[in-house]
Amino acid sequence: MGEKRSKVVVLGTGGTIAGWAPDPSKGREYQAGELSASDLVQGLETDQDHIVTEEVARIDSKNMDWPVWLRLVARLQHWLEQDDVQGVVVTHGTDTLEETAILLHTLFRDTKTVVITGAMRAANVAEPDGPRNLRHALSLAGSPGSAGVVCVFAGEVHAAAGLTKIDCQALHAFTSQDPVPVVWAVDNLGALRKRFSQPSTAVVNVSAEALAQVKTWPWVELVHHHAGQDGRLVQTMVNSTTAPDGWVVAGTGNGTMSQGLEDALATAQARGAHVWRTTRCARGQVQALSGDRFQTVIGLNPFQARVVLTLALVAPQIKPTVLGKPEI
Ligand code: SIN
Repeated sequence: MGEKRSKVVVLGTGGTIAGWAPDPSKGREYQAGELSASDLVQGLETDQDHIVTEEVARIDSKNMDWPVWLRLVARLQHWLEQDDVQGVVVTHGTDTLEETAILLHTLFRDTKTVVITGAMRAANVAEPDGPRNLRHALSLAGSPGSAGVVCVFAGEVHAAAGLTKIDCQALHAFTSQDPVPVVWAVDNLGALRKRFSQPSTAVVNVSAEALAQVKTWPWVELVHHHAGQDGRLVQTMVNSTTAPDGWVVAGTGNGTMSQGLEDALATAQARGAHVWRTTRCARGQVQALSGDRFQTVIGLNPFQARVVLTLALVAPQIKPTVLGKPEI
C-alpha cells in the first residue's frame, strides 16, 4: 500500500510563494507567480521521495477566475484518480486562497488529501516562509489516510470551510474555527486525525463534470451591511435590466441588517434571485431565527458563501445541506 501510493503531486497556480523580487532588499516590490511549481520544490528538503509537479497557472491570485479554477479542478481530478498518488498540494496566492479552498472542498471533500498552501514573502527575499509551508504541506499530503481539503500555513492546519485570511502582512495570515499546529500534526498524524475534523458547514453537491459544462456562470454579488446601509445599491441593481442571480449578504453580528437592505433583498428574492445570509464577523456561526426571510449559511465566510452559492446555482439543489463532522 505504502509502495503503491508513492507520489505526491504539486499543482502550481502562482502567488507570492512563487514570487520574485527584482531587488531582494525591497521585499514588497515583487511579482507574484514568477516561479514554476518545479522551481518551488527544487532543492527543498522534504520527506517525500516522489514528487510530481505541474503548472496550472502563474497568476497573482487577485486575478483568479473560473477559467483558471476549471483548469485546476480538471488537473486535480486527474491526479486524485491515479492509484499511485497519495495526495495533492496546490500552491496558491494568499489573497483568494480561501475561495479556492472552498471550491475544492465542495468538489473533492471525500477523496484524498488536498493541501493548499502559499506564502507571505516572495521566494528570494530574506527568510521566505514558502519553503517551510510547502514542506509541511508535502508531508501532510504524503501521509496515509485522508484529511479532506485543508490549508497548511505558518505551522497550522486549517479546514477549508471557514478559512479566512486575517492579516495582510504577518506570516501568520490565516485563521479558522479550529486550527491545529502542523509541526505536532505531521509528527503524529494519528493524533491529528483524532483531533482535527472538518467542521459542520453548508455544502452543495455538484460534480467537476457538471462545472465543465457551464457556459454562462451565474452572477452572485456580495453586499455588506454597515451603519447607514439603506439597501439603495441592491434596489438599483434589482431594478436594472440585468440583475444578479444571487446575493450573499454579510450582515452585522448574527447576520442582521437594516429594514431597507432586508426589503431590497426580499424584492430581489421575489424576482427569482437567491439570497444567503452570513455574518461579517470573523468568528461564530449565524443562528437561524424564526421569521428569517433568507437562507442562513453556516461555516463559511461571506466570500466563501459567494463561491458556494454560485456552485449551488449550477447544481441540482439550491438549498445548502449542513454536514455533520465526519471522522477522518
Ligand atoms: C496573491 O494572492 O497571489 C498575492 C499575495 C500573496 O500570495 O500573498
